[in-house]
Amino acid sequence: TITGLFAWEALDSRGRPTVGCEVRLDGGATGSATVPSGASTGRHEARELRDGGPRYGGQGVRRAVAHVAGEINDAIRGLDSTDQATLDERLRALDGTADLHRLGANAVLSVSVAAALAGARQRGVPLFEAVADGSGAPLLPLPMVNIISGGAHSGRSIDVQDFLAVPLGAASFAEAIEWAARVRAGAAEELAARGLPVALVADEGGLGPLLPTNRSALDILVAGTERAGLRPGADVGIAIDIAATQFVRADGRYVLAAESRELTAGELVDELVDWCASYPILSLEDPLAEDDWAGWQTVTERLAGRQLLGDDLFVTSPDRLARGLDEQVANAVLVKPNQTGTLTTARAVVRQAHAAGYATVLSARSGETEDDWLADLAVGWRTGQIKVGSTMRSERTAKWNRLLRLESELGDRAEYAGQAALSGTAP
Ligand code: PGA
Ligand code: ZN
Repeated sequence: TITGLFAWEALDSRGRPTVGCEVRLDGGATGSATVPSGASTGRHEARELRDGGPRYGGQGVRRAVAHVAGEINDAIRGLDSTDQATLDERLRALDGTADLHRLGANAVLSVSVAAALAGARQRGVPLFEAVADGSGAPLLPLPMVNIISGGAHSGRSIDVQDFLAVPLGAASFAEAIEWAARVRAGAAEELAARGLPVALVADEGGLGPLLPTNRSALDILVAGTERAGLRPGADVGIAIDIAATQFVRADGRYVLAAESRELTAGELVDELVDWCASYPILSLEDPLAEDDWAGWQTVTERLAGRQLLGDDLFVTSPDRLARGLDEQVANAVLVKPNQTGTLTTARAVVRQAHAAGYATVLSARSGETEDDWLADLAVGWRTGQIKVGSTMRSERTAKWNRLLRLESELGDRAEYAGQAALSGTAP
C-alpha cells in the first residue's frame, strides 16, 4: 500500500530539469524514478509541464514536482502499488486531460514508474519479472545503437537525426553491444581518415560530425563497419531515424537544409528507396512527418520488406496506432513511455502492436537520466528491440549495462531476440 510520495527537481543528460519521484510503501519498500525528455517531440505526445520564468530558461519543473507531492500524493495514498492498471487509471482521471498537460506527463510518469519499482521491491522480484505477464521467457532485445547523430541532436549538421547500427548477426546481446562499440570506433576512424575527426559526442553519445550530405553518414557507417572487421548487411545492418517531422514545412514539402533541397513527400520516398538500394538499411523510423498519413502509405507500399517504424506518427498512442493498423501504415512501433505518461498505456500499445503483427522498439529519449528501468521493461514486456543511444555516456550505458547484467545473470532462463525481432524481410 502506498503511504506517500516524495518528489524533487533533478537534471537530465542535457542539463535540463526533470521530475524525480519516490513512492513509499507501508512495508518500508520504496521505488524511485526520474523521467526522460525528448528534443524532437511529436505534436501528439503527452505534455510535460514546465514552469516558464527565469529559472533554467523556463524549463524548470517545480510545478510538476509540486503536483506529485501535493495533489497526486493525496489521490493515490492507500492504493496497491502492484496494481499498476488501477494506479495509472487514477492518475489519468485525476489529471482529467487527454494529453496530461494539467498535472504534467512528466509528473504522472514519474509516479507510474516509481510505483512499479516499489511494488517489485515489495514482492522481492526484479522489475522485469514484476512487469511480465507470463506470456514467455524474459527476452533480451536486439539493440539498435546510435553511431552518428544529425538533426535536433547534433546542431542540425545534417537533416537525418539518427544513424544506427543493428548487429543482426550477433548471437547474443553482449556480442551485439561489442559489435556496435566496434562500429562506433570504426566510424570515428573513418571520419578521422577523411579529415573530419570528432572529439565531441552528440546528445545520445554518438558522433556528431559536420558532413556534406545525409548519404555521407551512410557511407561512414558502412566504412566503419568494415574497419571494425564486420560485414555490412550480414553482420551489421543500418537503421535510420529520419525524424521527418523536424523538417517538413506547413505546405507539406520536406526541406533537406544540409543539401539545399526541397522535396515533395513522393520525392522524399524516392530518395529513401535509393538509399535502401545502395546501403543495407533494415529499419526506417519516421520517414515521413507525423501527420503525413498519405506519404506514410506510399512508403509502406514502396519499402515493404523493410522495418517501417512509427515514432512521431504513433506517439505510443493506442488511438493513433489503431488508425495505423486500420490504414496498414508502417509495420513497427516505437514505444516511449513518456509519450503517453503511464506504464499501463505503453504496455497496452506493445500488446496492440504484437497482436497485429507489428514489431516494437522500446526507446529512450535524447534527454535521459541514469535510471535503468527501461531495460527491464524491454525484457519483461518482450518488446524484441530497444534503442537507447550510443555505447557511451552514462545515461546510455545505464540501460545497456542493466541488459548485459541480465543476460549474464539469467543465462538459459532468458532468450535473445536477435534479428527475428525486426519487421520486414530485407535484405
Ligand atoms: P527525442 O529523439 O527523444 O529527441 O524525441 C528520439 C527519437 O526521435 O527517436
Ligand atoms: Zn524518432
